Amino acid sequence: MSKDAKEPKEAFGIDIGGSGIKGAPVDLAAGELATDRLRIPTPQPSTPDAVADTVAELISAFSVSSDLPIGVTFPAIIQHGVAKSAANVDKSWIDTDVASLLTERTGHDVFVVNDADAAGIAEMEFGAGKGTKGVVLMTTLGTGVGSALFVDGKLVPNTELGHIPRAGVSFEATIADSARDREGLDWEQWAERLQEYYALLELLFSPDLFIVGGGVSKKHKHFLPLLELNAPIIPAQTRNDAGIIGAAALARSERKRARKAAAKQK
Ligand code: BGC
Repeated sequence: MSKDAKEPKEAFGIDIGGSGIKGAPVDLAAGELATDRLRIPTPQPSTPDAVADTVAELISAFSVSSDLPIGVTFPAIIQHGVAKSAANVDKSWIDTDVASLLTERTGHDVFVVNDADAAGIAEMEFGAGKGTKGVVLMTTLGTGVGSALFVDGKLVPNTELGHIPRAGVSFEATIADSARDREGLDWEQWAERLQEYYALLELLFSPDLFIVGGGVSKKHKHFLPLLELNAPIIPAQTRNDAGIIGAAALARSERKRARKAAAKQK
């Protein structure tokens, strides 16, 4: 993170999930929420129009200055602001320009990022990966399985490693926390599946560090010690707020990049 004194110390982060849309202003010096967050249930069906209205409603519940950058996470491939997949959300999102839709609906500059990438950014800037060079691989275990890959602190976006196929279906279908719940797996049974998955990731990427996020990471003592890997595998620190914090951090750096690019063109 640059030490430029003119950088805003705050940004607004919003985390769009399958069941809730959460947001709060983020104190980017401390890497934590500046006030309590607000959560609004995700409208069903979660179409682009309905979700955009909810995002606008959430922002209007805070006195957000028109100048504050806003970062939004979305659980799909986000390429240059456009959704390119929809594994656990309404299929009508595919090919939606999420950034333009939300910018137009909210009247703010909105930057959009994959949810796991946002959680990874939060961990690299403020949490378990802070200062770690080399290859860091963050995975989130929740309804789906998300991934965020960093090389010397730089994000390689949209890795989607939860969708690596195993016997014709995504690993996600059997190793997500939702699969553990659905199938009533005990920690050992679940860890056996995780072992196969993380050993494969290790073969592919030889990471220096694995970070595991998602709500279940607060119960890490039950399953992380059961995994045998060469790299250390540790729980995320930003937990529930990772998406909000990472999205806000991203919004600040993207805003800066956009302004620099605009200044160059003048
Ligand atoms: C999606 C990813 C997302 C992950 C976690 C997966 O099904 O494809 O984009 O990061 O779930 O929400």
